[in-house]
Amino acid sequence: MDFSLRPEDVRWRDVAREFAQNEVAPIAREMDEKGEMPMALIAHMAKLGLLGSTLTKEYGGSGMSHLAQALVYEELGRACSSVRGFVTVHSSLVIQCINAWGSDAQKKKYLDKLATGKEIGCYCLTEPEAGSDAAGIQTMATHAKGGYLINGEKIWITNANIANIALVFARTADLEDAKPHERISAFIMRTDSKGFDRERMPGKELGHRASDHAHIHFHDCFVPEDQMLGAAGQGFKVAMSALDHGRLGVAAGALGVHQACMDASLDFTRKRRQFGKRIADFEMIQSALAEMKMTLEASRHLVYHAAWKKDQGLDSTLETSMAKLHATEAALKAASDAVLLHGGRGYSNEYPVERYYRDIKGLQIYEGTSHIQRIVIARQIVGKEK
Ligand code: CAA
Repeated sequence: MDFSLRPEDVRWRDVAREFAQNEVAPIAREMDEKGEMPMALIAHMAKLGLLGSTLTKEYGGSGMSHLAQALVYEELGRACSSVRGFVTVHSSLVIQCINAWGSDAQKKKYLDKLATGKEIGCYCLTEPEAGSDAAGIQTMATHAKGGYLINGEKIWITNANIANIALVFARTADLEDAKPHERISAFIMRTDSKGFDRERMPGKELGHRASDHAHIHFHDCFVPEDQMLGAAGQGFKVAMSALDHGRLGVAAGALGVHQACMDASLDFTRKRRQFGKRIADFEMIQSALAEMKMTLEASRHLVYHAAWKKDQGLDSTLETSMAKLHATEAALKAASDAVLLHGGRGYSNEYPVERYYRDIKGLQIYEGTSHIQRIVIARQIVGKEK
């Protein structure tokens, strides 16, 4: 068993680390306060090859391994979850999904532009009445001349206000007699299509404040027949397989948040003096630091192992859900402890730990809550009754 990283994976990690620490971390607080992410960051990431990640060069990608991609997400997440979240949706949920399910013509049409950041993608699954129950979506695709008319709404759609391309999951009217998950189809839609209306989600979010989240309405929005992704009725599997990539991205992002909590806590507790010594020398503080380090490394092994399985071409649904569940829960506890270790200072945005604490809660929820990950894990290990 070899736990060392390959030189090419380390190179991608270092590219992402340099970008994240020099370009993102210094403005993360400002982005959080303003509630927006500069578009220049996207162009910069595209130039570095961080958006095309696992795609081959043929489609404008960087040809990196899944492990390298996880390392990139970890480094971005260490600096800012909003930036990491943008890339995970764009690259893992959209690019990798089109790459896996698209026809040659669809791949040629979309992938290069997405990989090079000329166009931005979003993934439209969640609805007001269908969050965890993804097969329960109500958005409807009805056959029209040469394609489908889409009607319905989607909420919490990351990147959607700035996206050019939307992956839309809808019930197919022709398949209404099928089981719920067998009547869903996936479509690639342009966001400038007539009847595609979007607005920012109302209210101020707890975390991820620099992320863009939209509420979308489809009013007789036409999508040509050849823009269906996969076959009619395959949409649920398309959505779930995309989430297998996206969830690993979230897990790796959580690992990054956890690492940032570790770095900040070590730095602060070594400098802060009380009762005549560094607080890092008190056993109760050390207990918290030791726990934080142990759970960090446990998450790291789960995340890297899931990525390694993807690189071997093996099914990784189980490993991905275990990685997402563990990494997000452990990072949530680490962020809570990091705030506590910083005392009163941790409670204000003078230090970044309060942002980590607010952001990490989102990772526990989106792309399948911790409850859903437990369901996926249990179904994988129990198996179907024969
Ligand atoms: N890959 C391929 N196929 C899969 C799959 C996967 N990972 N998981 C399930 N399937 C298949 C199953 O094999 C089954 O196929 P068969 O009928 O041929 O056997 C079919 O899909 C139905 O599977 P289930 O019976 O398990 O379906 P279910 O309705 O019970 O749902 C669930 C299972 C795990 C709860 C699923 O609904 C789920 O993951 N829910 C959470 C949805 C989610 O993560 N939403 C977040 C959306 S993205 C977001 O947060 C916002 C954003 O902007 C990114």
